[in-house]
Amino acid sequence: MSIKEIYQTMEYGPAPESNKESTAFLDSHKRKFQLFINGKWTKSSSGEYFDSISPATTEKLAQVAEANEKDVDDAVKAAKKALKSWVELGGHGRARYLYAIARQIQKNSRNFAVLESMDNGKPIRETRDIDIPLVARHFYHHAGWAQLMDSEMKEYKEIGVIGQIIPWNFPMLMLSWKIAPALAMGNTVVLKPAEFTSLTALLFADICKQVGLPDGVVNIITGHGATGAALVNHPDVSKIAFTGSTEVGKIIRRATAGTGKKISLELGGKSPFIVFEDADLDSVVEGVVDAIWFNQGQVCCAGSRLLVQESVAEKLYKKIRARMETLRVGNSLDKSIDIGAIVAPVQLKTIEDLVQQGKDEGNICWQPSWACPTEGYFYPPTLFTNVSPSSTIAQEEIFGPVLVAMSFRSHSEAVKLANNTRYGLASSIWTENINLALDIAPQIKAGTVWINCTNVFDAAAGFGGYRESGFGREGGKEGLYEYVKHKAESEFTDTPAKIKSHDPGENKIDKKSLPAIDRTPKLFIGGKQARPDGGNSIIIKDAFNNHISEVPKGNRKDIRNAVEAAHAGMSWSGMTGHARAQVLYYIAENLAVRAKEFTDRIVQMTNVSKAEAEKEVNASIERMYTYAAWADKYDGHVHHTTQRNVTLAMPERIGVMGIICPEEHPLLGFISTVIPAITTGNNVVVIPSEAAPLSATDFYQILETSDVPAGTINIVTGVKDELTNEMAKHDDIDGIWYFGTAEGSKNVELLSTENLKRTWVNYGKYRNWYDKTQAEGQEFLRHATEIKNIWVPYGA
Ligand code: NAI
Ligand code: MG
Repeated sequence: MSIKEIYQTMEYGPAPESNKESTAFLDSHKRKFQLFINGKWTKSSSGEYFDSISPATTEKLAQVAEANEKDVDDAVKAAKKALKSWVELGGHGRARYLYAIARQIQKNSRNFAVLESMDNGKPIRETRDIDIPLVARHFYHHAGWAQLMDSEMKEYKEIGVIGQIIPWNFPMLMLSWKIAPALAMGNTVVLKPAEFTSLTALLFADICKQVGLPDGVVNIITGHGATGAALVNHPDVSKIAFTGSTEVGKIIRRATAGTGKKISLELGGKSPFIVFEDADLDSVVEGVVDAIWFNQGQVCCAGSRLLVQESVAEKLYKKIRARMETLRVGNSLDKSIDIGAIVAPVQLKTIEDLVQQGKDEGNICWQPSWACPTEGYFYPPTLFTNVSPSSTIAQEEIFGPVLVAMSFRSHSEAVKLANNTRYGLASSIWTENINLALDIAPQIKAGTVWINCTNVFDAAAGFGGYRESGFGREGGKEGLYEYVKHKAESEFTDTPAKIKSHDPGENKIDKKSLPAIDRTPKLFIGGKQARPDGGNSIIIKDAFNNHISEVPKGNRKDIRNAVEAAHAGMSWSGMTGHARAQVLYYIAENLAVRAKEFTDRIVQMTNVSKAEAEKEVNASIERMYTYAAWADKYDGHVHHTTQRNVTLAMPERIGVMGIICPEEHPLLGFISTVIPAITTGNNVVVIPSEAAPLSATDFYQILETSDVPAGTINIVTGVKDELTNEMAKHDDIDGIWYFGTAEGSKNVELLSTENLKRTWVNYGKYRNWYDKTQAEGQEFLRHATEIKNIWVPYGA
């Protein structure tokens, strides 16, 4: 074509990126990759290999070893062996390695970008300008956290060997999100890349060798789902970090239940992209391109649901269609394409099927007039309009370049539509009105809110979901907690601490101060005393087998009513920290007034000495003060992210939480668990000590006189295991704390899988409830919150 002709047609010519270095890398391994275990390339004991394909050309790039259980075991052993000296190396030593890795990634950035683009099918423009720079940034940032661990994470230590399983959509970026914080905090890792995209992880293994990373600190094992499962189930793995489908996330939740393995899950999404009528529509169009056509829409936080205010909807759709017509789909190594290839035929088929279903359900589908290349796995950008919120394509993650659009009239309808999903990963809000944006941001149940921007990421900001998008955060200081454990955990014991028993002759209970027997304790639901649904009671006896009282035997329906009441009573969560503090002080004050009665009650139920019971009541009052103090001080952060944003990391309430109190310390155990949960604005349903529930049922009288809004604290007495299981299964409970047996802990983790509740259980270990490092403070508040990162343009 002559230059004159080019000027006439303005056609793009191909602008291919050279793949010379990546080819040389593949050839240096004879296009047959082994496993990276203990610093060495190791043949898999299965002797099996699978192909890695370039989805843009269908060319076979290399063969990759399939790791089996034995290989996983070897890798975990290597990581375990490397752990001690990696920890002893200290923060500064680890910082040096992480820094060296960051430098090497920068020095090899083109090779990484090209290889990633070839193996995954994503445009070289993206890997070159987004993925790989962010990978380097992640290692730099976490070199810093390694350096600062001793001073900034004093109360925490490493977890041990971490199993990490990553997906194919951002192979290197997900590797860095996993490996950098884990190593910084002193852990060693075994990482399994996704079967479609192993190659950059193997190039990374070469980098680990180059920088002289001690053997076994990083192990890379390639393989399919079964390899991942073997890693999940290995007894010497102390934590699993997973990014991928919600389905596999749930498998991992079930597989690890009760084992004490920590898990973090970063799963799917169906994130809303909300456009208000005053938004700058031309910016919105470019935002939409980044939201859903970046990485072919294979993005967990893709803005895949476009919600537009009705008054501008048709105008916006027209602009989007015009822009779609100009998008270019093609070979991922061509620098002038916008959209690359879908990772594999199976993913392409999923997209095609869902689009067909969208059409069958009567939604209006639009695609550009041009056709995709036929060689390679391509799919055109696709827009559905007038989509009904209940249709499959509005609810299911498509994980492809398919945008579904629907309109709203009022702001409250926008919020309702946005939250009408089982996911809660991300969202973006488009308006020129900062007041409106900041009014909507806290109302969206999503871990990330982007204001007038979308799909921006940075190592300094946490990323992660609510609900079925999983739990845990990656990035930012909040992400570090996924890779550490509190030092106090090592002080927990297998049996409760011995406390001095009451000698029946020694201190007489003042019978007069006890409530009369006929003041029947009831359930406490929605601010009212309630009779149990089943009409049954449980007899409560003292240590000498004397009948003290009866309490209601709660059942499934009582739990259901309590959860409903907790959802209905929203005024507590709307209060300021200052206002909540006032109420907490008031509760403490009223408890102090009735200290004697509560003391006697503890003596009566648990047979401890009077001095011991007084100590418990006083400790409870003091603990109330601690949380009243924290109520207006548990602040967030402003993260200094790199893209001209201020990123507000806000601790948010989890929602409605179930609290299963410890058996021991009927009052202190109740206060120490219930109060931190409500301090951060959660509403709770509480199951008190089964054998000694009367401190809790006495306590609701205090709640009634302390300005606690109805529905904030709901109390259901009864058989603990039964009630706990009902709570763990309940889909409208967002989080559960359980302090009980090992078996009970396992059940909570197992039964919480369906809606992926946040769980915090004690695996049958006992903490000393008097010890402040074990039993109060920020560790409790952290478990009572999730961090939402709100990105606001700043100085742009
Ligand atoms: P997947 O969840 O099966 O794969 C993710 C990783 O988990 C891979 O490394 C895989 O080998 C591993 N894995 C698979 N089964 C496992 C098991 N039982 N135990 C341990 N590890 C296991 O996702 P897949 O099949 O590649 O994609 C299916 C759908 O998942 C996509 O269409 C998309 O909707 C969603 N997805 C979401 C991602 C995200 O970033 N949140 C990433 C990838 C997929
Ligand atoms: Mg591949």
